[in-house]
Amino acid sequence: MVIIIAMTHSAWPLFDLRIRCRTVTLRPVKESDLSLLAAIQPDDYEHNPHAERLPGTDLRQHRQRLVHQDYWRALGTWSPSSWTLSLAVEYSGALVGVQSLEAENFMVLRTVDSGSWLIHAARGRGVGVAMRKAVLGLAFDHLDALAAVSAARRDNGASLGVSHSLGYTNNGVSLNNSGTGLVELQHMRLPVQQWRAAGHGSEIAVDGLTPCLAWFGR
Ligand SMILES: CC(C)(COP(=O)(O)OP(=O)(O)OC[C@H]1O[C@@H](n2cnc3c(N)ncnc32)[C@H](O)[C@@H]1OP(=O)(O)O)[C@@H](O)C(=O)NCCC(=O)NCCS
Repeated sequence: MVIIIAMTHSAWPLFDLRIRCRTVTLRPVKESDLSLLAAIQPDDYEHNPHAERLPGTDLRQHRQRLVHQDYWRALGTWSPSSWTLSLAVEYSGALVGVQSLEAENFMVLRTVDSGSWLIHAARGRGVGVAMRKAVLGLAFDHLDALAAVSAARRDNGASLGVSHSLGYTNNGVSLNNSGTGLVELQHMRLPVQQWRAAGHGSEIAVDGLTPCLAWFGR
């Protein structure tokens, strides 16, 4: 007799979280994804421009190292008031990108920020909107967030397009040191009232959240 035991991650239940929106499924990035993610991450995704590069490494090696280090940092420093949830984006049976959701002082400010990238072949098909919508559904409809913010360079039409498409409105411009000069960042903000009025929540299914609620201070 073969006994099949469904393995869950009781000590780190975030690994069992799943969010679905339309044809897109989000699930937490795991260590076994890192080599692939480092290989497929597109060059136009901006890492921390101030991260120190190891001597003798080129930009590609530097970026690939940061994919790994950002993952471990996020898990190693998680607390209910300061967290970054990195989710692998699955579309048409393949891993095509990453959607993150993050917050500082979340229990007080109840505000989330987000970041994302997709391989070029998966862009322009609504996947970017679906994956952002998925994490907003988690934040607004399950974690009691009051607002979502986002920022992108003013020439990043696709990122700003995703935000506009979901009802964010402009919230000012700031100057940022990109490492190679100053760039203008467009800030965007979406209050929960706007999210609810748009009725986006009905498209999103969240599974496995209950054991994770304490991770978000809920
Ligand atoms: C940002 C990103 C994830 C978006 O994914 P995507 O598949 O291109 O996005 P979608 O096709 O789902 O939606 C893009 C939206 O912006 C609009 N858009 C795209 N390019 C645009 C442009 N140049 N100007 C204005 N709107 C634009 C699209 O029409 C669409 O809006 P709609 O839903 O109202 O039609 C993807 O482009 C990417 O990986 N970019 C590189 C990394 C990056 O910049 N990440 C964000 C860092 S802040």
